Amino acid sequence: MADMNEVLERQMREFRERMRRQAVGRWAQAELDMQIVTAVAMLDEENQSRRGSREGRGPNVDRHRHSRGIVCGVPSSGRSSPRERKRKSPASMKAVVITTPGGPEVLQLQEVEDPELKDNEVLIKVEATALNRADIFQRKGMYRPLSGSSPYLGLECSGTIEAVGKQVSRWQVGDKVCALLSGGGYAEKVAVPAGQVLLAPPGVSLQDAASFPEVSCTVWSTVFMMNRLSAGETFLVHGGSSGIGTFAIQIAKYLGAKVFVTAGSKEKLAFCKNLGADVCINYKTEDFVARVKEETEGKGVDVILDIIGPEYFRRNLNLDSLSFDGRLFLIGTMGGAVTEIDRRVVLSKRLTIQAVDLRYRSPENKAAIVREVENNVWPAIVAGKVKPVVYKYFPLSEAAEAHRLMESSQHIGKILLLP
Ligand SMILES: NC(=O)c1ccc[n+]([C@@H]2O[C@H](COP(=O)([O-])OP(=O)(O)OC[C@H]3O[C@@H](n4cnc5c(N)ncnc54)[C@H](OP(=O)(O)O)[C@@H]3O)[C@@H](O)[C@H]2O)c1
Repeated sequence: MADMNEVLERQMREFRERMRRQAVGRWAQAELDMQIVTAVAMLDEENQSRRGSREGRGPNVDRHRHSRGIVCGVPSSGRSSPRERKRKSPASMKAVVITTPGGPEVLQLQEVEDPELKDNEVLIKVEATALNRADIFQRKGMYRPLSGSSPYLGLECSGTIEAVGKQVSRWQVGDKVCALLSGGGYAEKVAVPAGQVLLAPPGVSLQDAASFPEVSCTVWSTVFMMNRLSAGETFLVHGGSSGIGTFAIQIAKYLGAKVFVTAGSKEKLAFCKNLGADVCINYKTEDFVARVKEETEGKGVDVILDIIGPEYFRRNLNLDSLSFDGRLFLIGTMGGAVTEIDRRVVLSKRLTIQAVDLRYRSPENKAAIVREVENNVWPAIVAGKVKPVVYKYFPLSEAAEAHRLMESSQHIGKILLLP
């Protein structure tokens, strides 16, 4: 037994020693790598600065990432490609940066690098961008941008195409357009997949065209593509004075639906009525469930577009609010996120409840919606049946002020930022 213990102990000692030697070896190799890389970089910089001072220009070191994750410098040929020049070029446009999650004051206009243009994208020189409620959530750190998308705010814009990627055939430099973005509108330039671009609708100023992409894609994809609201049906829009609401009223009326809205003041309701809303309900002074019941002779409406969330969820599903086979579409969480559902109501009335977040759809999905919008909504805009509703224009440098206005909820329709 003693022999056996000795053998085991010896084996353990040898094993530990082998591990120690390997660890030292790995550390030594990494240290050696680091020393070589540093020495090469120093040598390069020295050579470059000598050559640079001989030729009357500064050091020309192309920064790149070493395969072991160490940033080092290697000499470039001296004739950089356009891509390399772009990478090396200093900050070249202005954008609103969220300096840290928080209140409107964290938004600051800063000098940043131009967006990089991919082969399937176009580069737009921004004429205007529009605020969306989602921007407020993102500013506060409660709504994360899609991975790979711009870190800057701005889900839509209008402007002029300044460059096109290699694979883009539909668009040309100089085209006046508007676009659905995954971010990046609060800037002087933005790169966007070509499929998410629309021709700016004729008859609308290029600035005001920025008010359409987000609301038209949201409302068309939910209320019409998925919920199939049709002529003669009844449609309740909560938040009738919102950017979403002012567009939804107009397009639903154009397509022959009877439109009900809720809003929080007489002034807002008068505006909604002027846009074509048939039944205007002040949710602060009236019970919308009772009013809907009264106006529909107890039947309820066919489709509800709900931007509020839990506060309204149960009341929307109340037997009095939705008709049999009624459809409820949830697109917002302004009143919170978590709620309960009484399945008996949903089952007995054969209700459909759907929800979607446009931002998290794939680029292919967004492109399909954009084409539908171009085919179905653009003719209504060109015919003057759907008009841009812009409450106020701010310079891009006053993005914080624009956010304060949106958070006050005093506005009606859209708020635009102009670079
Ligand atoms: N899912 C998606 O893909 C998607 C896309 C775009 C927008 N959205 C959502 O749609 C909503 C509207 O966005 P927006 O940019 O159009 O917002 P907005 O222009 O800021 O409008 C929001 C309006 O809602 C009204 N409101 C607040 N509480 C209300 C209540 N309890 N009942 C009725 N109205 C109420 C406010 O007016 P009053 O209270 O004064 O009437 C406020 O002006 C947001 O929740 C946003 O996140 C979702």
